[in-house]
Amino acid sequence: MSDPQNGESRVLITGATGYIGGRLMETLERTGRPVRCMARRPEYLAAADGTEVVAGDCLKPETLPAALQGIDTAFYLVHSMGSRGNFEDEDRLAAGNFGEAARAAGVRKIVYLGGLGDRSQTLSPHLKSRQETGQALRDSGVPVIELRASIILGSGSLSFELIRNLVERLPVMLCPTWVRVQAQPIAIEDVIAYLQGALALPAENRIFEIGGADRVSYADIMLAYAHARGLKRRLIFVPVLTPWLSSLWLGLMTPLYARVGRKLIESIRHPTVVTDDAALATFDVRPMGVRDAIARAVRYEEREFARTRWADAVSSGALHPSWGGVQFGSRVVDARTAFVPVTRAAAFAPIRRIGGASGWYYANGLWRIRGYLDLLAGGVGLRRGRRHAEHLRPGDALDFWRVEAYEPDRRLRLAAEMRLPGRAWLEFEVNDAAGGTEITQTAIFDPIGLPGLIYWYAIYPLHRRIFAGMLKAIVARV
Ligand SMILES: NC(=O)c1ccc[n+]([C@@H]2O[C@H](COP(=O)([O-])OP(=O)(O)OC[C@H]3O[C@@H](n4cnc5c(N)ncnc54)[C@H](OP(=O)(O)O)[C@@H]3O)[C@@H](O)[C@H]2O)c1
Repeated sequence: MSDPQNGESRVLITGATGYIGGRLMETLERTGRPVRCMARRPEYLAAADGTEVVAGDCLKPETLPAALQGIDTAFYLVHSMGSRGNFEDEDRLAAGNFGEAARAAGVRKIVYLGGLGDRSQTLSPHLKSRQETGQALRDSGVPVIELRASIILGSGSLSFELIRNLVERLPVMLCPTWVRVQAQPIAIEDVIAYLQGALALPAENRIFEIGGADRVSYADIMLAYAHARGLKRRLIFVPVLTPWLSSLWLGLMTPLYARVGRKLIESIRHPTVVTDDAALATFDVRPMGVRDAIARAVRYEEREFARTRWADAVSSGALHPSWGGVQFGSRVVDARTAFVPVTRAAAFAPIRRIGGASGWYYANGLWRIRGYLDLLAGGVGLRRGRRHAEHLRPGDALDFWRVEAYEPDRRLRLAAEMRLPGRAWLEFEVNDAAGGTEITQTAIFDPIGLPGLIYWYAIYPLHRRIFAGMLKAIVARV
């Protein structure tokens, strides 16, 4: 769709540090659309060159005029769900302030993504608040295009992460009966396509219900996720599980998502399906079904993961060391760094030679035992050694690893080919630092189901010693 009136004017994205805003920012940047992002903490935003980033907080109205100046269309993707305070009040106030400032700045149109829920039924506080937010924006007088979505399927989306955490951890799940309530989940790619499409719509108040190709229950989504990951899962429905009990259970199983999970549970109890097909008649988007959406989410994650520079993540403080490592989607990451007062090439030399006859520099006896255990389990063990003592290239076998990425004097990523209840990688990166080089060593594990998690946490104390010892030994060899 194209909008002659809109041309290539700069659009404002609020909530760009959030899930939807972040994905929209990446997409608009890729299409070359001029973008300005407003964030409470602009330093956390990794925007492309050419994207303007301004500081702004919807709860501090004095910060908004600068962000809105010269803006034609503003995407409102702000949500206080993670806040510790009363999110309904904060969201209402934030939307009211933003609408007022947008009107004063002459903004032509606001595009808002809210939540799907049938107004004729009692809504959960969360869904009610999402719809009130739309109204607070409309009250400003600026035309608002409101898109209402059910669960959004994509890696990083709160509801998706909640499902992932439960399915990965529990082979048998006791489910409350309302896990059978119908929803119409939509893939993140389709949501972004709708948001982009809204740029071309005339500036008038409209509400569009958007949903994927399938109407399913949360139970169906859990089973579809399990299928995508090759996990066998059983759901047992128990009528006695009240939302309160379920939220306690959730807190125990997925402490990371407990607080927002409780608010989501309330929403899951009500059907969230599209009741009006105006979106299909107005937009060119033809949304995909649940299985495709989940498969795409898993593929997207693989791509992003392969692109991640762990050295950057560690030095930016994005990784906060914790026992067992930091969780990224389904994976756990354990990283450590060391400084050496030599050039990058010198620091990389022992890394380049690792494995085979050189051994693994620390606890070689344990590495050999791991190799025998692998042979016993039908794996390749350590017998493959290295193709060449000095040189490596992607695709080389290296003991029970395979070289997945190799950039001379920069980066070596090994993918494990030993028998494991999951997938594992070991990566080394060297980067220039003041007066020398910083070596980053990262161990990554993607546990498959509960056996994978038990394996990782059970041997973590040993792993920690081995990897720390290996890094020290590399430093000593530099
Ligand atoms: N994710 C889903 O499954 C889903 C489903 C249906 C609808 N939606 C809708 O999509 C919209 C965006 O959701 P999301 O999942 O992207 O949420 P999110 O990941 O929690 O992001 C929320 C964003 O709002 C920002 N924010 C919060 N309070 C702010 C304030 N006072 N001023 C400025 N920015 C503020 C946050 O910035 P900080 O980084 O500074 O905290 C963050 O960037 C919401 O309206 C939500 O209802 C989402």
